Amino acid sequence: MTARPREQWGTRAGFLLAAIGSAVGLGNIWRFPYIAYENGGGAFLLPYLVALLSAGIPLLIFEYTIGHKFRGSPPLAFRRMARAAEPIGWWQVAICFVISVYYAVIIAWAIRYVGFSVGQQWGDDPEKFFSNDFLHVAEQPGFAAPFVPGVLWPLIAVWVVTLVVLALGIRRGIEVASKIFIPLLVVLFLILVVRALFLPGAAEGLNAFFSPDWSSITDGKVWVAAYGQIFFSLSVGFGIMVTYASYLRRKADLGGSALVAGFANSSFEILAGIGVFATLGFMAHQTGVAVSEAATSGPGLAFVAFPTIISELSSGAAWFGILFFTCLVLAGLTSLISIVQVIVSAVQDRTGLARVPAVLIVGGLTAAVSIALFPTRNGLYLLDVADHFINQYGIVLAAFVAVIVVAWALRKLGVLREHTDTVSNLKVGRVWMVLLGVVTPVALVWMMVDSLRQEFGETYGGYTTEYVLIAGWGVAGVAIVLGVVMALLPWRDPGVPEDEDGVVAAPVTEEAKS
Ligand code: ALA
Repeated sequence: MTARPREQWGTRAGFLLAAIGSAVGLGNIWRFPYIAYENGGGAFLLPYLVALLSAGIPLLIFEYTIGHKFRGSPPLAFRRMARAAEPIGWWQVAICFVISVYYAVIIAWAIRYVGFSVGQQWGDDPEKFFSNDFLHVAEQPGFAAPFVPGVLWPLIAVWVVTLVVLALGIRRGIEVASKIFIPLLVVLFLILVVRALFLPGAAEGLNAFFSPDWSSITDGKVWVAAYGQIFFSLSVGFGIMVTYASYLRRKADLGGSALVAGFANSSFEILAGIGVFATLGFMAHQTGVAVSEAATSGPGLAFVAFPTIISELSSGAAWFGILFFTCLVLAGLTSLISIVQVIVSAVQDRTGLARVPAVLIVGGLTAAVSIALFPTRNGLYLLDVADHFINQYGIVLAAFVAVIVVAWALRKLGVLREHTDTVSNLKVGRVWMVLLGVVTPVALVWMMVDSLRQEFGETYGGYTTEYVLIAGWGVAGVAIVLGVVMALLPWRDPGVPEDEDGVVAAPVTEEAKS
């Protein structure tokens, strides 16, 4: 069988925008500001920067290198490195499946809130509006529940857009979408932040955000939070960066690209912190509720605190809301596209299917599961539990296993370093091997132990043990089992020749030579 030539990014900027689009997501806007504030404010920036440089960027380079050298999505790339490593790749694909099914529904909520912003439809009790009037959340967490039509149709829209972009391909779909969505997101977000800075009380909010609590630096939990934020926010450990880098040309500055993507992501995150806290400062000023009480993260920040604040604005309230929720939609969509691309690419690599049928079958199946489970009265509960467990015992654990297997069991770091240093302008050297082989796994294991300790201290989120066992542990466990089972299936040979070192002699197109 002759292999279909692998798709390629049109330009380096296109790849970088897509990688930044994947990294900049809901985590940047609604997670970082609160995590930073809770963990020492201004002082948090130190562990955060250390985490970025000591583990985030080294892991980003690691994933770029695996994807680029072995020219494949995670299952194929890991298989080409060593057959026994293929389950890690499928495990990451399963993780992406789980994340994409619930991540999409948050974007659907945000789409509805763009509309609700126009007349501040949430009234004077945004909390009640969000859970009762909009989501119709069931009284008790469960599994089967009636659909909520108001969430169903925007969710279908999210999936249609995502699948159309993916069906158009790497260059005409993902690259074009990233080139439009990311600059638009940055411009809209800048307008939002500047507006927030001129609100009365903004300075107090920023004071609360940046005031350093230096004693936090010696607290282990603060470091765990810093590493956790970096991993989720950079989209490392999902296999996304392996996948995206597999579409790069032969000569690609992997090290330099990782630095650009890493710092762009963190800059956006800090900008989000400034915007969110300036806005919370305004809320404190208007309502007398202290910033410390108003500060929160996740749906509570976006769909309760922000609507409350928007209603307090005397002028331009609708615009402020439209801007904020549009930014959430754009940031979320580019991340969702990258997550689903991992699944599509993996199936394409292992079956030889062309892109459009792969998108229709695999993307369609993912969309169907998302649509069956999440726009229901149980959606919020399922999302909350699945998100917590797949992050802690999916992404983090898979990243740990990948690093340990590659660095210590297969001893491939030297080969990977050689590859990066050959193709990149920025040389990573031995220091990268030490950071990746020692610092990163220590940080990952430390995070796992810390969250396991909490898990056994009390059941997550006050749910019943049974619920957490099924929707949390069960989902994270099934992802591992699926990883192993998928690797055992007799896939069709992808037909791309490799030399004995596993280096893939990928077809070099005329374009790639230029
Ligand atoms: N990195 C993406 C986010 O921050 C997944 O939401």
